Amino acid sequence: MATARASQPRTFSDARATYSSSPELAWWVFMRISGFLLVFLTFGHLWANNMAFNAGEIDFAYVAGRLAQPGVKVYDSFLLLFAMLHGVNGLRYSIEDYVQRPGARFWWKAALFTAAAAIFVLGVMALWTFSFDEMGSAVRALNE
Ligand code: HEM
Repeated sequence: MATARASQPRTFSDARATYSSSPELAWWVFMRISGFLLVFLTFGHLWANNMAFNAGEIDFAYVAGRLAQPGVKVYDSFLLLFAMLHGVNGLRYSIEDYVQRPGARFWWKAALFTAAAAIFVLGVMALWTFSFDEMGSAVRALNE
């Protein structure tokens, strides 16, 4: 249920005393672990696509070539999963902090979770089911 979060717990024992439900405690732990991992995942991603390679030259062939590598797909899946869960849970905290009316709170959260689920499904589909060969031929055919 709604959690009033006027003062943020700083240590694990603070968090245990603050959160009455164990899912909320699990989210507290998850936010710290995923936040830490995202620093490395995001910098690795920026290194590959923005520093080791000139981002201005990114095109269809470059993305197709990267996503042909299983390691990049697995890496991106973790980046997508952690970035989505971390970001959405952060927004959920903000909704609980600022939206007091239960009806409004419900609809804000429903909109957030619906948008997040759609983005996540599209991201997973782009990584694992999208056929760059077929789409590449379709794009080339359009240009002919
Ligand atoms: C200058 C900044 C950035 C550039 C140039 C860039 C570029 C790219 C490129 C080329 C891809 C597809 C190929 C690949 O994965 O290597 C990609 C995918 C992705 N990027 Fe970035 N990126 C940037 C910043 C970020 C940031 C800050 C995040 C998250 C915090 C992010 C999250 C992702 C995710 C999750 C995917 C996979 C998308 C999918 O599921 O289809 N990117 N990015």
